[in-house]
Amino acid sequence: MRDLRRCVGFVLTACALSLAVACGPAQNTNTNVGGGATPGGAQKGGAVRIGFSMDTLKEERWQRDKQLVEQRAKEVGAVLDVQVANGDDSVQTKQCDNMLTKGVDVLIVAPHNGEIAASIVEAAHRQGVPVISYDRLIKNSDVDLYVSHQVEKMGEMQADYALKRVPKGNYVLIGGAQTDNNALLLRKGQMNILAPAKGRGDINIISDQFAKEWKADEAMRITEDALTRTGNNIQAIVASNDGTAGGAISALDAAKLVGKVLVTGQDAQLDAVQSIAEGKQTMTIYKPIKPLADSAVDNAVKLARKEPISAPDRVNNGKIDVPSILQEPQAVDKENLMSTVVKDGYHKLEDVYKNVPREQWPKATAGVQPKASESQKASQVFTAFFLLLTAFVWVKMR
Ligand code: BGC
Repeated sequence: MRDLRRCVGFVLTACALSLAVACGPAQNTNTNVGGGATPGGAQKGGAVRIGFSMDTLKEERWQRDKQLVEQRAKEVGAVLDVQVANGDDSVQTKQCDNMLTKGVDVLIVAPHNGEIAASIVEAAHRQGVPVISYDRLIKNSDVDLYVSHQVEKMGEMQADYALKRVPKGNYVLIGGAQTDNNALLLRKGQMNILAPAKGRGDINIISDQFAKEWKADEAMRITEDALTRTGNNIQAIVASNDGTAGGAISALDAAKLVGKVLVTGQDAQLDAVQSIAEGKQTMTIYKPIKPLADSAVDNAVKLARKEPISAPDRVNNGKIDVPSILQEPQAVDKENLMSTVVKDGYHKLEDVYKNVPREQWPKATAGVQPKASESQKASQVFTAFFLLLTAFVWVKMR
């Protein structure tokens, strides 16, 4: 009987322990500035205080960036302050100044304007605070690290995709905000591929413009204008992101050309992958955000603690070759939606194919089962542990 009591006690303790393990990361840390860390805590071995300055949450991806940076900060025990400038440079500068005054140990900045943000780096450095340039490059500054994806390559991938399927014809190029270095890099990449085709006379670039602030209605206006000028004779639209692709598709819709003109994009945001599943948008560039968010937070902690960082790439920002970590993008179209965004759990199958009749949904095959979520994984670990213990108790009681 005593044995039995001991076993029951053991099982209960073990259950409590395994529950704690399964829920561990979520309980790990503070999440907000003011959560107890003292300024300069990093140097004293305390929690690192990270300031994350974002330009915008407008595109779906930025909401994901915010959530994943918060999640990683929790996991590593850092205190995080997130500020969003809503496309206003002076607001972004002020928000960074405030975070510096509050005593952050390190800043992660996704700049609205890559040139203007150089002053944020200067202000931070005056206080000995390192700065990470997030997704978009901060120009002409001594910024400490740049974490992003291979942006020029993304432009090449968009153009290459288009040119392989539309080797001849009229092209419209829609760039993003010219204040965002990414918009310029994308255009550079696109022209690396399209310029030779243009030179051979295979394609005719009838419009090559930038949509102010990455706005969909600007993209719609550019497309409408191109349709009018050519009498609806357009074969491909190289839109630089999904937002601008959506604007272009609205213009095509009015001209009854949706699905007949190739349209590229970038971000794999939900409305765009739905549009791909429906055959309206042709492709997008999928950039997993988690590796980006993780590398920003992990390296922010290292920089704050003055530990060495490993950054294999270099990107010139007009002043220095900035140590950089650039993640791989992936081209996504109707053919590989399942084996990319759905398989990775970036979007759910039922959301992606929401507007497609159910009988046309792809069959989920063994290789492309969506990944288990973190909470599913935790409960799987708990169940496995519980079963093992039950078996152990049963053997003991016999
Ligand atoms: C980002 C894109 C985003 C665009 C508009 C770019 O700098 O890399 O992912 O769609 O900004 O916010």
